[in-house]
Amino acid sequence: MTRATAAIILAAGHSTRMKSAKSKVLHEIGGRCLLGHVLASCAALKTGHVVVVSNPAGEDVRAAAEAAGAGAAIQDPPLGTGHAVLAAKDALKDFDGDLVILYGDTPLVEPATIEAMLAARSSGTDVVVLGFRAADPGPYGRMIMDGGALKRIVEAKEASATELKIDLVNSGVMVADAQTMFDLLSKVTNDNAKGEYYLTDIVGLANGAGLSCGVIECPEDEVLGVNSRAELAAAEAALQRRLRVRAMDGGVTMVAPETVFLSHDTKLAPDSWIGPNVVFGPGVTVGEGARINAFSHLEGATVAANAQVGPYARLRPGAQLDKGAKVGNFVEVKKAHIEEGAKVNHLTYIGDARVGVGANIGAGVITCNYDGFDKYFTDIGAGAFIGSNTSLVAPVVVEAGAYVGSGSVITKTVDKDALALTRPEFKQISGWATKFRARKKKEKSKD
Ligand code: UD1
Ligand code: CA
Repeated sequence: MTRATAAIILAAGHSTRMKSAKSKVLHEIGGRCLLGHVLASCAALKTGHVVVVSNPAGEDVRAAAEAAGAGAAIQDPPLGTGHAVLAAKDALKDFDGDLVILYGDTPLVEPATIEAMLAARSSGTDVVVLGFRAADPGPYGRMIMDGGALKRIVEAKEASATELKIDLVNSGVMVADAQTMFDLLSKVTNDNAKGEYYLTDIVGLANGAGLSCGVIECPEDEVLGVNSRAELAAAEAALQRRLRVRAMDGGVTMVAPETVFLSHDTKLAPDSWIGPNVVFGPGVTVGEGARINAFSHLEGATVAANAQVGPYARLRPGAQLDKGAKVGNFVEVKKAHIEEGAKVNHLTYIGDARVGVGANIGAGVITCNYDGFDKYFTDIGAGAFIGSNTSLVAPVVVEAGAYVGSGSVITKTVDKDALALTRPEFKQISGWATKFRARKKKEKSKD
């Protein structure tokens, strides 16, 4: 039988280097906050209990935790990582099983890595620590190994010159039986360089008590920590690399993947094609064979199979393109359904609307959906043809198969298969320009 699993996410440190009014862990990468990424990993692992530890000022963190169905504990004042884990003890008093310690500012740990740690735990290692080979071990805790066994973790500030040369370092992520973890933590003191209760000290204590400790290694990219805006950008870059590779492994063509920006939840079907410089905000789904051309920006949009978007298109929340629909250059679509095979190819705004099957929207058409107070709907029937530079003043209906002449301002229902025009009559005066030029020339010659 697999053991129950709970997680504690540490987020009580003061993140002064972000220079931000909001908590560090609420800054976003890939369209989701750092804490959200960690909570999503917990959800993927199906950890029953999750407790987020924040400092007294972290009301925003507690709100985010509770919104995600996690518990919240307060560490006041923050006296170190070991002390932070103990702050969650009460919230887990009825829990019996393995405890995973994660950091709110370390968003890229893969669920599979934590699974590997839990597997090591199940096969008898009492304390499992996630380590990595650091390009620059700098401030990280050093793993003191004896063969495959982890004996101690020594913090950089306490390490000897020889220990500082070790490049296998502590990510901070740890797994142990909850009872064992709390028992060991009760013995940790703050007699060290920082005067803090170090979580890492439980490794030495465990060895002293005859328990076994081990290390699971992961790539450095996976445990990037975010303490500054520059590190936030580095984490974003690492996440983007991961999301692009995942998309391409899933059968998506990207001409210039390094220029495509994805969200954590972007869904791109096999054989979709993504041009250079495309940005996907949260909530986008793209179907098989669809083509998203260069410089397009999509958010909260659904693009069905074989539809085409861009170049230079903007799909805002609620844009829904059915099969084979086309949205071309300099077109903005918001909360609108572009039905199968419909075309909106140039310089157009379609908001709060339906564009029926096979309808054709000319260049420069605008749905006038807002009067400064309320939004109104425009309904364009199947096969309708809207001439260029038409304003559709919502609420308004253009019935199936109707034609609207270019430059019209439509304020009333256009009947099925009718032609609607709102345009002054065409007027022409023959020879007027010739006479006009002759008169002007004569005037000028007198000056
Ligand atoms: C810690 C580890 C170090 C490891 C490094 C990885 C300890 C003693 N050291 O060091 O071995 O290499 O992380 O980044 O554990 N936090 C609290 N309450 C506190 C202190 C910290 O919640 O009182 C949280 C922070 O918000 C942060 C995490 O714990 O998410 C790590 O804290 P930090 O101060 O960055 O630890 P390091 O000194 O970097
Ligand atoms: Ca740190």
